[in-house]
Amino acid sequence: MELKERLDVSVIGAGYVGLVTGVALADLGHNVLCMDVDKSKIAEIEKGKIPIYEPGLEELLLKNKQEGRLRFSSSIKDAVNHGLVIFIAVGTPPKPNGEADLSYVENVARDIAINMDSYRLIVEKSTVPVETGEKVRQTMQLYIKGEVDFDVASNPEFLREGSAVADFLHPDRIVVGVDSPKARDLLFCLYSPLAAPIIVTDIKSAELIKHASNSFLALKISFINAVSRISEMVGADVDKVAEGMGMDKRIGERFLKAGIGYGGSCFPKDVDAFIHISEVLGYDFNLLKEVRKINEEQRKLVIKKIKEGLWILKDKKVVLWGVSFKPETDDVRGAPSIDIIEDLLKEGAKVVAVDPQALDRLREVFKDRISYVLDKYEAAKDADCILLTTEWDDFKDVDFKKLKEIMSLAFIVDGRNLYKHLELDSHGFLYLPFGSSALGKPVGGKKIL
Ligand code: NAD
Ligand code: UGA
Repeated sequence: MELKERLDVSVIGAGYVGLVTGVALADLGHNVLCMDVDKSKIAEIEKGKIPIYEPGLEELLLKNKQEGRLRFSSSIKDAVNHGLVIFIAVGTPPKPNGEADLSYVENVARDIAINMDSYRLIVEKSTVPVETGEKVRQTMQLYIKGEVDFDVASNPEFLREGSAVADFLHPDRIVVGVDSPKARDLLFCLYSPLAAPIIVTDIKSAELIKHASNSFLALKISFINAVSRISEMVGADVDKVAEGMGMDKRIGERFLKAGIGYGGSCFPKDVDAFIHISEVLGYDFNLLKEVRKINEEQRKLVIKKIKEGLWILKDKKVVLWGVSFKPETDDVRGAPSIDIIEDLLKEGAKVVAVDPQALDRLREVFKDRISYVLDKYEAAKDADCILLTTEWDDFKDVDFKKLKEIMSLAFIVDGRNLYKHLELDSHGFLYLPFGSSALGKPVGGKKIL
């Protein structure tokens, strides 16, 4: 479809979501300004250096910058002057009690109001608890100078890290939470080149759609992880169970991969925030508390599995293959690897991390408490255990003969069930996946398949 009209758009916050949103909207033909308070980040981007690893983003950014549709700034005044539509895409990190910290959103709302002298549409892109739109509106009304008209809208984002650009440009749906025809028309115009269905709702429903969607996906993962625990107890195969369940179209096969559980900067935080806002509103969301508990248990189960093989972890060399919270990203925020490494260090293990993109970010967390190696074989030399944590492509293609020779003990704990089909146990490995074999118990009973 064609672009209806070229709009002036500002995106406040040039992180994983803001940067992708800005670049992708410029690519649709709009005139975009991305703004961030982090001056060094903006300076780096200006030099053509992308602050994050996200496939396809750099090329698209350079292209749209060169073609004059994309600019960057660290001035909020610039951003408010430029954008008829202004996206708020700043972080909403968790407070210690699970509540979403909305101080960044509030700051931006205030700054926009102070600098605004004619109509603007303010769009929540950040993931926020229900009724945040109301708070944004109230804040703006308090700080606006004189009589200036504006609208607030909620347009939650469903992109995944690692496939963010493609997800943004080919979404399953676009959610437009509005309370005025003008806001609706502007957002329709903004997304006019995309083929996706648009669902129009009130602002609160749009906010709820985002929290409910992330929480539901997290629930699917925890559900299959609970089933994986039962599968282990009886020697059934959770991947076969998931396959059989997923063939029912009402259930669907996606987000039913058992393993070390979900991580990232969003599922854990959004589940916590949804539990918290529900409590504030008077509903005890016990179902989600269980989802969170099961997920936390999966990380502990990893240590239990490593101990099943090694008994004592002190001075044992444990190598993590993959530390980002999922493949194709350098993001380690909320990654299962972080909790797992902390637990391994507590037990006195020597930890080595391998990852194609995330080592620099992990180094910011663990400094010199662990070692960092790019090559998977170099790291595996004299190792007592390899823990497959993130299913990067590089870890799919492994010379297991070589691996067996260089490891001190041929022991693999497979947190993503990546090697299950290879029957590594029959090739001399001690191999522990999730949700099928336990030590001393064959996978799925007799090998008849
Ligand atoms: P991020 O931390 O990568 O980026 C946030 C950016 O906002 C940072 O660069 C920070 O410097 C900037 N910022 C903070 N205060 C600012 C201010 N006052 N003015 C201008 N810039 C400011 O965070 P993110 O991962 O992009 O997430 C942003 C929001 O989007 C969160 O609410 C998150 O839940 C949501 N979300 C994230 C994803 C994802 O995949 N990361 C997907 C969907 C939704
Ligand atoms: C998730 C959602 O999928 C996006 O729709 C949403 O926009 C985003 O959160 C957000 O709000 O930030 P993301 O966290 O980038 O995206 O990545 P996912 O692919 O959803 O994976 C999240 C975690 O779940 C990863 O740790 C992954 O390994 C794990 N996972 C995923 C499983 O353990 N099993 C599965 O079957 C699927």
